[in-house]
Amino acid sequence: TWTAGNVIAEQVAAIRAQVGDARVICGLSGGVDSSVAAALVQKAVGDQLTCVFVDHGLLRAGEAEQVEQDFVAATGVNLKVVDATEQFLSALAGVTDPEAKRKIIGREFIRTFEAAAREIVEEAGQDEEVRFLVQGTLYPDVVESGGGEGAANIKSHHNVGGLPEDLQFELVEPLRTLFKDEVRAVGLELGVPEGIVWRQPFPGPGLGIRIVGAVDADRLAVLRAADAIAREELTAAGLDRDIWQCPVVLLADVRSVGVQGDGRTYGHPIVLRPVSSEDAMTADWSRLPYEVLARISSRITNEVPEVNRVVLDVTSKPPGTIEWE
Ligand code: XMP
Repeated sequence: TWTAGNVIAEQVAAIRAQVGDARVICGLSGGVDSSVAAALVQKAVGDQLTCVFVDHGLLRAGEAEQVEQDFVAATGVNLKVVDATEQFLSALAGVTDPEAKRKIIGREFIRTFEAAAREIVEEAGQDEEVRFLVQGTLYPDVVESGGGEGAANIKSHHNVGGLPEDLQFELVEPLRTLFKDEVRAVGLELGVPEGIVWRQPFPGPGLGIRIVGAVDADRLAVLRAADAIAREELTAAGLDRDIWQCPVVLLADVRSVGVQGDGRTYGHPIVLRPVSSEDAMTADWSRLPYEVLARISSRITNEVPEVNRVVLDVTSKPPGTIEWE
């Protein structure tokens, strides 16, 4: 019979057999898959594992802390955090095209991860070989690795296959036989924080592709504040498991006239994009209760001064994609 405990026991044995005494590295994204994969490897080989978390400055409120504090506290993993915000924001300055943003973010990510991996290799010294790289590949990723818009493509931004010749790793993929719900069960059994285990999908390029227009620190702060309010209210309403994900999008180059108190405002719109879906290939807009939408709208316009309008996206996929970029 399938139990999370059996899977953990099997995988721990398999990881130990594969890795032996060698050192292992793992890139953490803050998502479910990389976190559970890292927790499994940590359970199997402990301090032989070092995780790398690249903070690209495009994360939502609280996400870096969730990895740096909660995940580390829960698993005891060795974590190397690289704060690369400045580097990513200067590479993104003035860029508005969505695919150009993705390319830049992907390139900077690999560059940063590679530098961190090199440091870990150097710190390990001559006699301790860093031979293995953990990947949170799931069963559907293995099956659908044909590309297209499937998981393999979605993951491309966190793919470190582009590492140079002298930094080639053998892969450790302890989730290769599992589906998402099984990964969650394993994560819970391993004590991975619930906020990570139940995290909704979030794109690798992060808030960088949720600002329609150029990305900068001020715009990110506005979007981060609005997004935090939307997430807080959806969670408070108990809706997290009913919706697939809810992108919150800043239309940074659009302004509209509003009025607040005695004054005219000329602020930016925020778009709410709650969707229901099975696999992100198709989606429908979520019929959220009006009271929840009303609370999100009034809180965002009250608490985020740059925003004077909140709009709801009622487009299915197709024809609209889930993200706006
Ligand atoms: P779309 O917008 O194509 O999104 O309907 C489908 C799913 O993929 C996520 N997404 C991405 N994930 N890198 C990622 O890691 C990306 O560049 C990217 N673009 C979209 C999106 O959040 C949704 O879950």
